[in-house]
Order: sequence, then C-alpha cells, then structure tokens
Amino acid sequence: MRTGRAGLASAYVTTVRLNALDSGSVDTDALVVGISTSPAGPRPAPGADGVDAALSGGLAATLGALGFTGKAGEIAKIPTFGALPAAVVVAAGLGEAPEGDSYDLEVLRRAAGAAVRSLAGTPRVALALPAATPEQAEAVALGGLLGAYDFVKYRTAEEQKAPVGELTVLSGADGGEEAVARAATLAESVALVRDLVNTPPSDLPPARFAEIAEESAAKAGLSVEVLDETALKEGGYGGIVGVGQGSVNPPRLVRLGYTHPEAATTLAFIGKGITFDSGGLSLKPSASMAWMKSDMGGAGAVFGALLAIARLGLRVNVVGYLCLAENMPSGSAQRPSDVLTTYSGRTVEVLDTDAEGRLVLVDGIARAGEDSPDIIVDVATLTGGQIVALGWRTSGVMASDDELREQVVEVAAGQGEAAWGMPLPEELRKGLDSPIADIANLNPERSGSMLAAGIFLREFVPDGTRWAHIDIAGPAFNKEAPYGYIPKGGTGYVTRTLVALAERHQADGGA
Ligand code: BES
Ligand code: MN
Ligand code: ZN
Repeated sequence: MRTGRAGLASAYVTTVRLNALDSGSVDTDALVVGISTSPAGPRPAPGADGVDAALSGGLAATLGALGFTGKAGEIAKIPTFGALPAAVVVAAGLGEAPEGDSYDLEVLRRAAGAAVRSLAGTPRVALALPAATPEQAEAVALGGLLGAYDFVKYRTAEEQKAPVGELTVLSGADGGEEAVARAATLAESVALVRDLVNTPPSDLPPARFAEIAEESAAKAGLSVEVLDETALKEGGYGGIVGVGQGSVNPPRLVRLGYTHPEAATTLAFIGKGITFDSGGLSLKPSASMAWMKSDMGGAGAVFGALLAIARLGLRVNVVGYLCLAENMPSGSAQRPSDVLTTYSGRTVEVLDTDAEGRLVLVDGIARAGEDSPDIIVDVATLTGGQIVALGWRTSGVMASDDELREQVVEVAAGQGEAAWGMPLPEELRKGLDSPIADIANLNPERSGSMLAAGIFLREFVPDGTRWAHIDIAGPAFNKEAPYGYIPKGGTGYVTRTLVALAERHQADGGA
C-alpha cells in the first residue's frame, strides 16, 4: 500500500504492509519491539518473542543494563551483531502491561510513532509491537505511518529528505490486511493536512487551497463546488468577503459533498480556513503571528476527513465547507466598527478584525443549512482562550446539546485526540450585544473568550439543527519537540476524530 499525496509534492512516501512472520526471521533493516515495565524490570511484550529468542533470551537483561525501564515514550536501540537479519532492534516503551494483552490503542500508536520517528532515513522498518487484534494492527500501522511523516518540500539537502521507505506490521490478526489499509488511508489524509498547515502561507493562498481541494476531491469521487470572490460577493457571503477583502489573495468557499446510497444521516463539517491570520487592522504583535499559517487547520481537517470518508466508503452523507480567506491589513481591509451582512442575513459589527474566524465560519454554517444536515460540526483554530483554558494538546468542545458534546469528546478520545467538553454560559451572550448591529464579533470581557466565541457561532446555527464546535487553536500546531507520532509543526489534529464521528453515524450505527 503506497501512501502518496495528491496535490502537494511532498517526499513523504511510505508503503505499509502486513506480514504474519515471526519477529526473529523477518528480513528488514530495523525491528521495533514493545517493552513493558514490571517490578522485575523491563519485560518484552507480545511480538518480541522471536527477537528475544534470537538474542538468546537476553533482551530484557540487555535493556535493563542500558537503564531502559519500558516507560511509555521511552526508546532504545540495540545492535544485533548478526543475531537477526535486522541490524538494529528498537525497543519502544509501552508502560505497565495491561491485563489480557488489551493494549491501549493510543499507547500502541505513540510507541510505533516514536520508534519510527527515531528511524528517519532507514529504508525498511518492521514493527513487531503487540498486534493480536485488527484494531491493534491498525494502531501500530497508523502510529508508524504518522511517525514517519516529515515535511521535506522546502529542504534542499538530499540527505535531509530521506523518509522511512517501507513499513511492515507483523501481525497474524484476522482482518489485519483491511486494518492496515485503513490505517494507510487515514495516515494519508493526516499527512495531507499536515502538509497544508506546514506550507508557507505565500504558497497556500485561498485560491491555491481551493485548487488542491478541487483536484484531490474529484479523484476521491467527491462533488466539489468553489465560490470565488465574485460569487461570494454576489451570494451575500459578507463574513468571508469582509475578512478576505484586505488581502491581495481573494477568499474562497469550497463545498465538498459525499453521499452514500444507504445513508440515513447527513453530517456537515465546517472548517475555519484562514490561510494566514495577521489580525488584520487589529494587527497581532509579531510573536503571536509566528505560527498563524496554521489558522487553516480546521479547514485542513475537514478536507482530509472528507477524503478519507470517501475512500473508506462510509455509509453516511457528509458535506464539508472550507471557509478560506487571508486576514491582512491594507487600504481595502475591513475596519474595526465596520458592519457586515452575513449569509444568514444577520448583521455583525466587527469590533476587532482579529476575531475573524467566527466571521468566515458563520457564513459556512448558515450555508450548510441548505443541505438540511442532521448535525453540523465546525472545527476552528478559533481562540487563544482555548490554549489558556486547556493547554496546547486538548481541544475544547461546545455543543447545542450535552449528548452530542459528550459524543464528540468520546469519539476524539478513542482516536487519541484529547478533547474536553466546555459550557456555553448564557450570561456571556449579552457581552456580544452591539448598539448598531444584530451582534458584535467581540466580547469586551476577555475572560471566557473560547466560550463567548462558541456563543457567537451558536447564533447562526439553523434552527433545530444539532451543532458542535471544536476549538483546536492549540492542538492544530505543535511548536515544541515532537512526541509519539506528533511531529513539530502541523499535527493534522481532529481529522481522524471527524472520520470516526462519521463512522458512528453510519446507516447501521457503524456495526
Ligand atoms: N487565530 C486566532 C486564534 C489562535 C490563537 C489560534 C493562538 C492559534 C493560536 C484567532 O483568529 C484570534 O485571533 N482570536 C483572538 C480573538 C479575540 C480578538 C476575540 C484571540 O483569541 O485572542
Ligand atoms: Mn485572529
Ligand atoms: Zn484566526
């Protein structure tokens, strides 16, 4: 299975396959095994037996002597001196061994990711981590593929471009082939989202993003509609037009459609796609602008999820809206105190041009009403308040009802994409009152800004439609060191959650 990428020329190409071979006999360059902690020291996990046998039962003792304990996140490399076909064995810590080999899927994804990440440039890597079930095989394959990701497009030195060439997941699980193929599909989407986030904003203006969406969506069998700046103006998309009017790179609205004949539910995903957020005339200080190329992470996730959903052929209808604009200051930019008329017909007083995400999103949300969706989910790098409240790795989830909010949080947890439920306190609504328009885009009270943004969005949700909002300001971009299968830079966060959510809403309940 080859994971190439449509639209963007990245050198990340890793094939993944399944093999039921014993870990002691597989022909590869590096072999990854799982190691758990135990009171008696590091303990080889299922899958490592063949390696241990080839090393005369000395794996645990050797690792112990190196100070390796088996803690989650720990990685150690040991040379095999010809005892195995592989030149190096990579031990990946799994933490405490679970009962009955029911290894946590996120532990497996992260272990595989960290191990493969430490093997950049290795042609062939075999993963002999615990993979007795198809779910575990998928987790190992997915973690490995995501850990192999590297954004090399803008590096000129050839030696810095070498990806891991080929991954082999060792597993005899029934259904393992399908599980690994599914992992490849998901990894391909996540890698595409990471590429889009990592791409310098000058190379990804709204029109280019729309073009990429058009090309790859057509290949995946999705319907595509792109509204350019003229169509947006004529169509009354005042939010997207207002945010985009300060940039020489005009805005776009992309609608992606996926339908399945057996579908009983229609989901609408709306993504914030600010290709660069300078703040506009309410200019950001330079330090806060540094990673604002990631402000299209929501649109990226919606796009990636739609591609994966189509490729997996899920039995559900999904429409995706990418609300694309560049937020720049200029003589044509919108001014603080301007009033715009959104697609819903409602007017918004723009008190702060840096609160632009909600302006583009409400046009997408209102337009999605025309698809009569059962559920609308919007995804956005929306507020610094999300990071203040929940940190860099946990998104905030708000919703029209408790059940949907809890469902999104639960589905995200199942994917290892941490999310936490947040309220929409009624008392924050009056802070958005405008003396001249229907609503203002900023609550002058800074506390609770993540929640106030959610309350703003809620005003534009079509009556009676269930709606959830995921604020991914922190998790969309990793400014710190890589960990697990997460690289520095774009993370692709929430893409897999959206796919899993669509899976939950399949015709037969995903059974
Ligand atoms: N794109 C930012 C939010 C953001 C901040 C994302 C940090 C990722 C990291 C958003 O458009 C923004 O500027 N929000 C303002 C809103 C405020 C002016 C109401 C914020 O949160 O400070
Ligand atoms: Mn902003
Ligand atoms: Zn923004």
